Amino acid sequence: MNIVELKPDIYWVGGIDWDLRNFHGYLTQRGTTYNAYLIMDEKIVLVDTVKYHKFEEMVARIRRIVDPAKIDYIVSNHVEMDHSGSIARMLELAPNAKVLTSTRGEKGLARHFKGAFETEVVESGSTLNIGKRNLAFVHIPMVHWPDSMVTYIPEDKLLLPNDAFGQHLASSKRFDDEVDTAVLMQEAETYYANIVMPLWMSVSRAFKALEGLEIDMIGPSHGVILRGHIGDMLGEYTKWVDHQTEPRAVIIYDSMWGSTEAMAYKLYEGLLEGGVPVVIRNLKTNHISDIMTDVMRSRAIILGSATINNNVMPTVGSMLTYLKGLKPKNRIGFAFGSYGWNPKVLGDVESFMDDLGWDRPMESVNINYVPDPEELDGMKDKGMELAKHIL
Ligand code: FEO
Repeated sequence: MNIVELKPDIYWVGGIDWDLRNFHGYLTQRGTTYNAYLIMDEKIVLVDTVKYHKFEEMVARIRRIVDPAKIDYIVSNHVEMDHSGSIARMLELAPNAKVLTSTRGEKGLARHFKGAFETEVVESGSTLNIGKRNLAFVHIPMVHWPDSMVTYIPEDKLLLPNDAFGQHLASSKRFDDEVDTAVLMQEAETYYANIVMPLWMSVSRAFKALEGLEIDMIGPSHGVILRGHIGDMLGEYTKWVDHQTEPRAVIIYDSMWGSTEAMAYKLYEGLLEGGVPVVIRNLKTNHISDIMTDVMRSRAIILGSATINNNVMPTVGSMLTYLKGLKPKNRIGFAFGSYGWNPKVLGDVESFMDDLGWDRPMESVNINYVPDPEELDGMKDKGMELAKHIL
């Protein structure tokens, strides 16, 4: 197992999960990594662990540097089991190690491990001297769970923020400047869209709490370590936290007998003719978590559904539930669809958009059974009208 030295005497000792394709519902096409960091000083510190099935991989890396029995501290920056899942087994190899965590982390670890080990709380703003360097702890609740905290090492200008700035990207390379920049930024964006988006206020607060720190390397808990693209990543996060979008649209739909689909494509034509870049996402062929990247970028979210059993299509229902949790803000919404004998269902989509606070500048279009040519022309006109609102 290879190890990578990030800074003198600070090593990456994590695990690479090439096979992960589903991270609590988010399709992770490029796998992921669980990053753990070993700091060799007068005291030896392991910052975070790995998901349980990567435990042996992590231990093999640690053994190349030191006997795990010599570890003095295990820092748990975040309770979620992709980072803390190996703590109990690690303590079997490192029986003298103290587990350091936040206040909420202590409660969360107790619930997960049922009191199998003791923990020690580190307050936000506190520091721990480990020899030549200090570890500073800052709690950043809800980035990603209430227990989340960062570990910062001022002597090395190194920030270990756990889930923040992560990417689900398995790679044999460990640094951002060793992988394709477009892939890096795409995976960071998809990660933000599917995990971090509803936590924007907490991210903002975390940025304030970390303001003024000198940072020349960021070691997140997933993906590659940032050293060459820190400015780019911070710039993108600033934009995402601010809910900034581009003047473009995404049409998300599912159809039963083709009527809603025909309407979707006419809207698409109208938007393009109106000068708005647009992507069309059929829910039968696109995963909801992939669509979230389009949602992140787009000022207009256009949702279409056929009516089935007095409801929206199940795929549309799933998309709405996902959007409700991720809460994209500052969007223009437009609903359309087709029905047989119950025209009221589209109202559910409208209410959904209203609940998210989206602007709906145009009446929805709901067509009985099959659109006739004039109605399809009308959809194209709607697309052109919508384009004006977007631009
Ligand atoms: Fe990567 Fe919230 O766990």
